[in-house]
Amino acid sequence: MPEAQPTPALPTIGILGAGKVGTVLSRLLLAAGYRVLIAGSGSPTKIALIIDVLAPGAVPLSADEVARDADIVILALPLGKYRSIPAEQLAGKLVIDAMNYWWEIDGHRADLSDPRTSTSELIQSFLPDSRVVKAFNHMGYHDLDEGPRPEGTPGRKAIGIAGDYDADLTAAAALVNAAGFDPVRVGTLRDSILLEPGSELFGANLPAEGVQDAATRFPETARGREVAAARADADEDEDEDAA
Ligand SMILES: NC(=O)c1ccc[n+]([C@@H]2O[C@H](COP(=O)([O-])OP(=O)(O)OC[C@H]3O[C@@H](n4cnc5c(N)ncnc54)[C@H](OP(=O)(O)O)[C@@H]3O)[C@@H](O)[C@H]2O)c1
Repeated sequence: MPEAQPTPALPTIGILGAGKVGTVLSRLLLAAGYRVLIAGSGSPTKIALIIDVLAPGAVPLSADEVARDADIVILALPLGKYRSIPAEQLAGKLVIDAMNYWWEIDGHRADLSDPRTSTSELIQSFLPDSRVVKAFNHMGYHDLDEGPRPEGTPGRKAIGIAGDYDADLTAAAALVNAAGFDPVRVGTLRDSILLEPGSELFGANLPAEGVQDAATRFPETARGREVAAARADADEDEDEDAA
């Protein structure tokens, strides 16, 4: 009889951002058996109490330590602060971008609201040595908190994920599933704009079919047409420059 293979250990998850989404995701992933490291913007002692109450079992560390010690890192901080993400420590890692542009928090920022570029593409450019997948961004934190169900439960809610590499999407899908949601692949990092604020899917708390349908409809929506037009203009400008 062949020897039983040990179950491969679950990856350690790092979460940058100890606010509403960061603490909910910590709870969900701890419940699924993952080791979770978490950081706010400052010293770990500043978040120790809140983590004790909201996500007991998660390990508060500095952002540098979380980025260095985790296998997969979830970005759950305000998007406008993306330049404070410890890029060097994230080299070689899968990074899950759960962030959104919210002008009330981030201020009016042309770089974060340009329809030619998804914000996850921007994060990918800032983290050139990491691989970025968009996930966990479109569902409100209350729905994330209340929605988890075991795989196979009828009506289980779904989370759209987008990225450029199959293996990374598979890893992100496993996390989404472990957190209690059906993962739905909606395209590449460039396509992830359809998960952002301004799209039908932003705020969606739907089962997989609903997420898939809304993703398919995106090009026909006002936002979809705006994005397509801006990208076509940019491609034309590029062609003229090259000629
Ligand atoms: N709220 C939602 O329902 C929801 C749902 C999906 C996705 N999101 C997205 O998730 C992100 C976080 O939203 P939130 O509502 O959780 O915000 P939040 O409650 O204000 O929490 C933000 C957290 O990020 C921390 N932070 C700031 N800069 C950091 C850095 N450089 N490194 C590590 N942590 C840092 C903050 O720490 P300090 O307190 O020390 O500054 C705080 O703990 C946003 O991009 C948002 O668009 C939100």
